Amino acid sequence: MTTPQPRPGILDISPYIGGEAKIEGVERPIRLASNESALGPSPKAMAAYRALAGEIYRYPDGGAEELREAIGRRHGLDPARIVCGAGSDELITLLLRSYAGPGDEVLYSRHGFLMYPINAQTVGATPVAAPERALTADVDALLERVTERTRIVFIANPNNPTGTYLGAAEMARLHAGLPSSVVLAIDAAYAEFVNRNDYEPGAALVDRAENVVLLRTFSKIYALAGLRLGWAYCPPAIADVLNRMRSPFNINAPALAAGVAAVEDVAAVERAHAHNQHWLAWFSGRLAALGLSLTPSVANFVLARFPDDLARNADAAFSFLQRHGILTRKMGAYGLPQYLRISIGTGAEMERVAATLDDFMTAR
Ligand SMILES: Cc1ncc(COP(=O)(O)O)c(C=O)c1O
Repeated sequence: MTTPQPRPGILDISPYIGGEAKIEGVERPIRLASNESALGPSPKAMAAYRALAGEIYRYPDGGAEELREAIGRRHGLDPARIVCGAGSDELITLLLRSYAGPGDEVLYSRHGFLMYPINAQTVGATPVAAPERALTADVDALLERVTERTRIVFIANPNNPTGTYLGAAEMARLHAGLPSSVVLAIDAAYAEFVNRNDYEPGAALVDRAENVVLLRTFSKIYALAGLRLGWAYCPPAIADVLNRMRSPFNINAPALAAGVAAVEDVAAVERAHAHNQHWLAWFSGRLAALGLSLTPSVANFVLARFPDDLARNADAAFSFLQRHGILTRKMGAYGLPQYLRISIGTGAEMERVAATLDDFMTAR
């Protein structure tokens, strides 16, 4: 008997596996596996979300006008060139569905965000990984892998899971080396955490090019991951394409309302930024003192390399932390099995994790 068959290639896709959220027998685990916010959402965003409860029988504004205007005011951008998505994940998918298909290539950096190769496969395109230098995107290696079939280059800046970034000059050099027909998608999900003079999220590049798209999210510093909200800043022609491709009501009404309140609560973002600066440095220092090597992260997580011996390796560390109620992220899916990625949580959480890792590394 014949059964329905999906399109060729779909059964070759390894589904994305998110960070774990539960530990059996632990009521409130310390959750540091998904780079969520340490401090939680702005009280103003929560109030806006609650205030919407009586209105959820109505369709949301399909054009997300108020939210696009609020984002435009906050960042000095033209709202007409902003397209909102149900998380930046949806915008990654929309870009791929719009600009790539079977026979096309989608270029990304070897340890770039996994959704790029996974989503490239969903449209039948071939993901092409360029090697990195010191766990950092390598502009020359990326440019060497551009072919006539390349349609999109995805760069997470800063990158998840490595925490490393490209400065504005390097990003401009990558753009200058690409054919004008190739979309450069700069995914700045962690932009608000960065504290470096040579970093620029990418809006300036979008303004002077026809082929650059900047992706942003409300899931990280704005702490609205559960609502699924992201946005793209695009050249007009690309905004037009994404608006044709997206579903008409892709952002739900509570997300629109909370997003407006969140983007206007500048103080909440500043608090979250300052918190991250402090605890990223503190936690990195503690891990270094334990002899663990770290990539120099500018985001809200660290990537820690564990020793190779069975008693101290990343798998053993993951299990030890889990037994102590702490969830971190294994990195095997990224080809980095010697590493764990650990998000920056509250101060008390980071102190617990550091003390637990101290026990792990010094246990006999
Ligand atoms: C680099 C990067 N891009 C995009 C996303 C997806 O974010 P969203 O929640 O907006 O879909 C993540 C989430 O972890 C990420 O790390």
